[in-house]
Amino acid sequence: MILEMKILVTGGCGFIGSHFVRMFCARAQIVVFDALTYAGNLESLQDVEGKFRFVKGDVADEPAVEAVVAGGFDAIVNFAAESHVDRSLYGPMAFVRSNVQGTLVLLEAARKHEVPRFVQISTDEVYGSLPPEGVFTESTPLAPNSPYSASKAGADLLCRAHHHTFGFPVVITRSSNNYGAYQYPEKFIPLFVTNALEGKECPLYGDGMNVRDWLHVEDNCRAIWAVLERGRPGEVYNIGGGNERPNLDVAKAMLKLVGRPESLIRFVKDRPGHDRRYAIDCAKVQDELGWKPEIPFEEGLRQTVEWYRTNRAWVDRVRSGEYRKFYEMHYGGR
Ligand code: NAD
Ligand code: DAU
Repeated sequence: MILEMKILVTGGCGFIGSHFVRMFCARAQIVVFDALTYAGNLESLQDVEGKFRFVKGDVADEPAVEAVVAGGFDAIVNFAAESHVDRSLYGPMAFVRSNVQGTLVLLEAARKHEVPRFVQISTDEVYGSLPPEGVFTESTPLAPNSPYSASKAGADLLCRAHHHTFGFPVVITRSSNNYGAYQYPEKFIPLFVTNALEGKECPLYGDGMNVRDWLHVEDNCRAIWAVLERGRPGEVYNIGGGNERPNLDVAKAMLKLVGRPESLIRFVKDRPGHDRRYAIDCAKVQDELGWKPEIPFEEGLRQTVEWYRTNRAWVDRVRSGEYRKFYEMHYGGR
């Protein structure tokens, strides 16, 4: 095991990145590089403050990336991205800048400074949508359907090219839908839970029968760590929870856990281009790296609901915009 790695974690103030930093800051020296977009929240890392270094910066800003990467790292884990499909339908440009250009800027700086490991955090959405049967494997052709997933696929192809052409040691993870604490309440699970806790309606797209494979964020972070340590350069590793559920079932389960009636579910107009089903074959990461998900969905969902119930203040500060002051207060706006 690599104990004293120095890792640059981009997007470490977002949902998955903040869990990764919390889980591994005792095992490695971590520098978080994050632009603090609306989705970046330093307050989510308050409990491990002082155990990582923070640099505010944009991955698409070449001089800023050069300055940080020149500090020397054993690895870069790139979580930084615009991540919400709905936002990509109305403002795709930011997705190309952060997700495609940002990844390229990072790859180039990492190559120049000979960073020996680069983990690109991608998504199962690059494979497109599945019919009722079948699963995504690592050799499923890329067929992204939204500007978000197209931008993530673009980044994956740049990673592939850097490995093929320059022998740059990049590894890609493609995971299914993550859930857990600290997720920005625009995504399905935190939106429904926080609305339900307040007795508000929960907007379910289309017929509610779109299927997602839910993966607890901590299980994903454990897989990312395994890939960081032992993944083979140039390879892709799918990561899934093995919890395929139609949205309607998940919505009902959340309302039950919150103690609200199913009548709060409101069927609304479908998301344009809405992918019908994702399901992932993660035999490769299991067989090669010995990872498997540990948190059963029903238990993970119960804990997640409980977290949002007991952390209403975090949600309130996100909703009011108050969370944005945390950086100014704790880092003096540096
Ligand atoms: P998030 O939106 O919660 O966080 C993204 C983070 O990146 C934020 O802290 C934001 O400030 C930062 N960021 C955005 N643009 C940046 C830029 N230009 N420069 C520097 N920082 C920037 O996202 P998440 O859900 O934590 O997702 C993290 C990664 O995992 C993304 O690459 C996403 O595509 C991928 N992913 C997410 C899921 C999921 O279910 N959430 C599943 C599979 C893959
Ligand atoms: O599969 C991995 C992807 O999962 C990640 O790459 C993305 O970053 C992440 O946002 C997520 O994308 P989805 O589009 O699947 O997640 P979202 O939470 O937006 O929606 C999950 C499902 O719930 C989807 O079928 C749309 C539906 N939905 C979503 C919202 C926000 C609703 O029915 N109502 C809603 O209000």
